[in-house]
Amino acid sequence: LRKICDHEERTFLLIKPDAVQRGLVGQIIKKFEQKGFKLIGMKFMLASKELVKNHYSYLSNEPFFPGLLKYMSSGPVVPMVWEGPNVVKNARIIIGITNPEDCIPGTIRGDFSIQTGPNLIHGADGVEEANKEMYLWFTQKELISWKPAITTWVY
Ligand code: TYD
Repeated sequence: LRKICDHEERTFLLIKPDAVQRGLVGQIIKKFEQKGFKLIGMKFMLASKELVKNHYSYLSNEPFFPGLLKYMSSGPVVPMVWEGPNVVKNARIIIGITNPEDCIPGTIRGDFSIQTGPNLIHGADGVEEANKEMYLWFTQKELISWKPAITTWVY
């Protein structure tokens, strides 16, 4: 058993409008819960085009950017912050790669999506990006550090 460390890694995940509209929010959250990661921030909200523009600023020159802005602000989304060892990389593995056509079954995109556009969930691509993104969507106060009463079952 590994002793749980004080400063676990954190990642930013965003359940997209297509997942909300298809009723997949619970199934998506379940993947990260059952893995053993810890939820420390979550809300249900409409994202403004400005916020989405900021979030995806690295894609602003792409031809699909206007469509991406429209899709991401077309309905409610669920931004979340999860904590755990190596959670940034692991969450990306659980989510699956960008193009769902090449995603293996068992991943979220592999199981539930068929197109690169509406692909259900965003996961930060690195520790630095995660940190930047979580404070774009959350205030410090909205992220709640908590400790389970028993920590030895998962680790
Ligand atoms: P990206 O950050 O490259 O992928 P990922 O979500 O896997 O980290 O792209 C962000 C989103 O932009 C992607 O989830 C869907 C959309 N997108 C397109 O619509 N068309 C494309 O060709 C690409 C690369 C992305």
